[in-house]
Amino acid sequence: MCLAEFPMRQGGTLEVNTKYHDLAQEQQRLLKQYLEHSFNNELDLLKSFDCLFEKHAGHLRVKEIFETVEVWKKVVSHLQRCNETRKSQNLEAVSRIYDIASGHGLLAVLLAYRFPQVQVVAVDREKRMGFDHYVEVVNEFGEAEPGTESCLANLSFVDVHTAENAAFVCVHGCNELNLDVLKRALQKRAVWLVVPCCIREGLSNISVRCAATREEGDDTRHALMCGMIAAQYQASAIASIDRRITNRHLVIEGDAAFVVSPDHSPQNEHVPSAKKRSRWRAEIYRVHLIIIDPPVHAWQAVLDGPGLLVSCIA
Ligand SMILES: C[S@@+](CC[C@H](N)C(=O)[O-])C[C@H]1O[C@@H](n2cnc3c(N)ncnc32)[C@H](O)[C@@H]1O
Repeated sequence: MCLAEFPMRQGGTLEVNTKYHDLAQEQQRLLKQYLEHSFNNELDLLKSFDCLFEKHAGHLRVKEIFETVEVWKKVVSHLQRCNETRKSQNLEAVSRIYDIASGHGLLAVLLAYRFPQVQVVAVDREKRMGFDHYVEVVNEFGEAEPGTESCLANLSFVDVHTAENAAFVCVHGCNELNLDVLKRALQKRAVWLVVPCCIREGLSNISVRCAATREEGDDTRHALMCGMIAAQYQASAIASIDRRITNRHLVIEGDAAFVVSPDHSPQNEHVPSAKKRSRWRAEIYRVHLIIIDPPVHAWQAVLDGPGLLVSCIA
């Protein structure tokens, strides 16, 4: 990858604040070349990005693009693998993806575009301006599925409905948020993929202290913590994106449909009937809806323990 050509900071990762308009012409060309390669020359996505570069060059962060596109590739291949395994076990494929702590929302937009038959729900405390920019350009240049109004008709910002056959994705959600996502994925027997950032001391029973120069110690501790999370939640894989994009580059993947319970029998064998499951779900998942004063101008969605806490702020 051409990362070495882009502004870097001291720890050897991309400068966080570099925007597209800060790049020299050659760097802009390299970024476009990277996108061509990543999107397999799919013209609609490339045109969407060209339009973004033209309209929002002063806002688009270069790191955000590299990071999200690399994680998107991981999510796509993980979902494909999980769907194949689920099919071979007569289980349903993933029909809904929750991107928890979606932030700028590019990952949710790319997933919605890549999987038009799947509902994609972006969940965050606040809806950022960048989210609408991404939706706007992909809607403008993307090709809609027959019978749908726009190519992102399957994408919503927040949703209180927790569906069956879900996948939970959480990229750089901090501390407890990651663990809440994993607990929920386990309860829902869902496919999951997390890219942890901060994992504070105290989240695990094992205290990890690494002596080294600051960066090396931090990297080692992070890797160990990710390893412990992976073991605890019975991950199927730990992968990584290029460490030069972010030092929080470890990707932990799993499918809770195949988690083995403590008595070592696959939980799958005990799956209750759909009717029974939905009754249990209604009991387990309490959804709090707080409407302060409609009409609604802003949404706020917070992952709060086992329920989605959703408040609409007038
Ligand atoms: C570091 S950003 C990551 C954003 C994005 N996923 C990315 O990869 O750039 C963390 C995001 O988590 C959101 N967040 C923090 N706590 C949350 C919670 N309990 N529920 C939903 N979103 C939360 C913040 O608003 C913020 O957008």
